[in-house]
Amino acid sequence: MKIKKICCIGAGYVGGPTMAVIALKCPDINVTVVDLNKERIAAWNGPLANLPIYEPGLAEVVAEARGRNLFFSTEVDKAIEEAEMIFMAVNTPTKTKGEGAGMAADLRYVEACAKNIAQVAKTDKVVIEKSTLPVRTAEKIKEIFDREGKGVHFEILSNPEFLAEGTAIQDLFKSDRVLIGGDETESGQKAVQALVDIYANWIPKEKILTTNVWSSELAKLASNAMLAQRISSINSLSALCEKTGANIDELSKAIGMDHRIGPKFLKASVGFGGSCFQKDILNLVYLCRHYGLDEVAEYWHQVIKINDYQKERFAQKIIDHFGGDLTGKTIAILGWAFKANTNDSRESPAIYIAEKLFKAGAILEIFDPMVSPKIIWNDIKNYWKVEKETDFKAKIYISETISDATNKSDGVTLLTEWEEFKKIAFLEKAVFDGRNLLKNREINYVGI
Ligand SMILES: NC(=O)c1ccc[n+]([C@@H]2O[C@H](COP(=O)([O-])OP(=O)(O)OC[C@H]3O[C@@H](n4cnc5c(N)ncnc54)[C@H](O)[C@@H]3O)[C@@H](O)[C@H]2O)c1
Repeated sequence: MKIKKICCIGAGYVGGPTMAVIALKCPDINVTVVDLNKERIAAWNGPLANLPIYEPGLAEVVAEARGRNLFFSTEVDKAIEEAEMIFMAVNTPTKTKGEGAGMAADLRYVEACAKNIAQVAKTDKVVIEKSTLPVRTAEKIKEIFDREGKGVHFEILSNPEFLAEGTAIQDLFKSDRVLIGGDETESGQKAVQALVDIYANWIPKEKILTTNVWSSELAKLASNAMLAQRISSINSLSALCEKTGANIDELSKAIGMDHRIGPKFLKASVGFGGSCFQKDILNLVYLCRHYGLDEVAEYWHQVIKINDYQKERFAQKIIDHFGGDLTGKTIAILGWAFKANTNDSRESPAIYIAEKLFKAGAILEIFDPMVSPKIIWNDIKNYWKVEKETDFKAKIYISETISDATNKSDGVTLLTEWEEFKKIAFLEKAVFDGRNLLKNREINYVGI
């Protein structure tokens, strides 16, 4: 089976960059990325400097492939009908209502996609789960295809995405592994091979791992859980360091030099953020409980509890530094994105820390080089528990430069690992370094 046309449903942080790279590396395949969000698609079709997603190297990839074999469109049905292979890269947030609220993944977008594909497809399709999904979701998708389909054959594969925001393009160019799960039937294996052939255009064969569908679905959740667990492990030890006089950086180095452990993801910080770690672990916890594995569920839940504890501890340290009350104090919040080199602020620790400081009386000066003021205000409106907008509008300023944010402030918090924050001089100010950026600097440094 040689694929000539691909459709990807969902033009977000995963769908956009992954399809841009497939199009770049496979000039013979036409790739159409569709989304219901008209504004997002217009931005993908607009000036390269204003793509809806900021990722180093992305604009260059889009510049080369867009209009050649990479297209962005809102015509979802047309793209489904024409494609032989369809990626589903829609969002799978934590459920907010109904059974499993606050824990389970909300599959309504994936289910809507499957329904749409089933109703529109007039020829056989390979349908790929690109979104991160609970193990055995393919079973549910198959039920939808069986119920709603028009007699064509659908082959479902799992191909979870392991890119990290901020390094997405490099991760896609040189993936540690590409994981493809398929059925062991003849048609399943044919579909797996068709997808392997696409990635083999630039990924070495030994890095393309094929498994059954359930292993592939679960491997993504498990990988994220293990990455987050390392962060929570080192963060939990940072609390013990502060009580005992041990130094967390020295500890990280000593632990990480063991080749069985390795140095990555062992840096103490204010905690992890991003749209994935928390939601995927909650999803894993929910699944374990569903299967009656309460001890396993509790083990993984602790990773999130330590992350919340670390954010809370950090904010409380700042409040304590000023004697327990921030009334009349101005605090600069440097960094709103959940990590450097992205404009994504989903689940960013900055949202939580800023809320806690604000509620302790602080005036806030917020600066981030990539997150737009519109998104910052939306985050505040959507995630802070504040009754009226007027309650916060008068006491929060979004600054255009680092110095605007810091000049008048009594304290500075560093909440995102942006390179430019490492170079600033803070004269006589309390600096609360939530990302461990300022090692060995002679400043008023209150680390974590
Ligand atoms: N962001 C990451 O770093 C990352 C990494 C690996 C995996 N993932 C997973 O990939 C999936 C997508 O994540 P994301 O960050 O790209 O999400 P996103 O919210 O940025 O993008 C999802 C897009 O899907 C669109 N959409 C939803 N339902 C649709 C429908 N029925 N038809 C057409 N468009 C529809 C939305 O409008 C949105 O633009 C999630 O499951 C996530 O867990 C994300």
